[in-house]
Amino acid sequence: MDCIVIEGGAPLNGEINISGAKNSAIKLMAVSLLTDEPVLLTNMPRLRDTRFMGQLLAHMGVEVEEGPGAKMRLHGAKLTNLTAPYDLVRKMRATFNVLGPTLARAGKAKVSLPGGCAIGARPVDLHLKALEALGAEIKLTEGYVHAQAKSGLTGAAITFPFISVGATEHTMLAAVLAKGETTLSNAAREPEIIDLAQCLNAMGARITGAGRSEIHIQGVSKLSGVTHSVVPDRIEAGTYALAAATTGGRVRLQNIRSDHLGSLWPLIAQAGAKVELDQTSVIISRDPEIPITPVDVDTQAYPGFPTDLQAQFMSFMTRADGVSIIRENIFENRFMHCPELSRMGANITVRGREAIIRGVPHLTGAPVMATDLRASASLIAAGLVAKGQTRIGRVYHLDRGFEHIEIKLGQCGANIRRESET
Ligand code: UD1
Repeated sequence: MDCIVIEGGAPLNGEINISGAKNSAIKLMAVSLLTDEPVLLTNMPRLRDTRFMGQLLAHMGVEVEEGPGAKMRLHGAKLTNLTAPYDLVRKMRATFNVLGPTLARAGKAKVSLPGGCAIGARPVDLHLKALEALGAEIKLTEGYVHAQAKSGLTGAAITFPFISVGATEHTMLAAVLAKGETTLSNAAREPEIIDLAQCLNAMGARITGAGRSEIHIQGVSKLSGVTHSVVPDRIEAGTYALAAATTGGRVRLQNIRSDHLGSLWPLIAQAGAKVELDQTSVIISRDPEIPITPVDVDTQAYPGFPTDLQAQFMSFMTRADGVSIIRENIFENRFMHCPELSRMGANITVRGREAIIRGVPHLTGAPVMATDLRASASLIAAGLVAKGQTRIGRVYHLDRGFEHIEIKLGQCGANIRRESET
């Protein structure tokens, strides 16, 4: 198994190109289930999660080809298998989202329940209730969801009891081929939802309101193929922006949508780093000698501060000159990076959904374990600023969502390498 080894202490200086968004790419791949024509995705990140989704789609009969550059071609001329087996779904939760589009196109589907995961229970009750509202008959047996819609899905008015990105996207992926109109109220507003709606609309879907809390979908009987460019990854961009703010130095991030991180930039600036923005790039700079001002953060659904940057922001705050409080409102168990950061000398107390971070003058390198995707990125930032060597194990978490992280950071002067652990 690989591990990442970092010799800390070097500030980051240079340029990083941001890849297409993982969270968008895997849902965009699922649109290939809705049409018998080819789907060409550009600006596709190459990640373990996109590979898992590709494996599942191929199992269902979609031809999946990774082209040169950041391209992927998917062609579901005929779906030959309407089952998503446990072995493929358990590797990545979002593969569960094949249920809705398969049902919408083929009238039935059998998809394994994803089960729990490291950042809390993460049920799929909202997904299933929404599909039932669209007329699906749903049975749960032996860990599988068996869904049927003999005479097709029918539009419905659906109000989500709380905001869920996955349930909003999943319902869109089903409702586009339903008869009549669907209204989604209290829908998630993330940029990835707008990206999915734009791709579906380019295929002939009729979706309005994506990016707002109420989305209207007028069902159509057929969707065509499409060429679509994946939106830049705001979480990858935010991760490198925070890494640069943590180590100090000057880093320019390119191929971003700076408006998608509107909640992050003021906090980085408040903490004492300089943020220079234009639409598609940002420069983050900080004099490593100047103390970091503590800043409190509350995670919220978009446009609030993203839970996927919470761990990285915490690494930044471990070195602040004072106390900051980070509150996690989205997931109930997303502080698993705290004990690992404490092993590196951070002073963090977790009380329920709050972490209290008392800044320390320096972190010290240590062997640590990545616990989930975003937590691994926080350990990398901590390792970059720590004195001495940090060795991060279980980096497969990192490979799920960050393309070439050690290369991108290496180009900015980080002393970072991948090693095979025996
Ligand atoms: C997506 C992102 C993830 C991000 C999260 C919140 C992908 C692949 N993942 O995850 O990176 O951290 O949005 O921005 O896009 N919930 C239920 N029942 C449901 C669905 C969700 O109780 O049926 C709960 C979850 O447990 C969680 C909250 O709702 O506490 C929000 O989850 P959701 O927005 O659905 O996150 P994901 O789509 O899983």
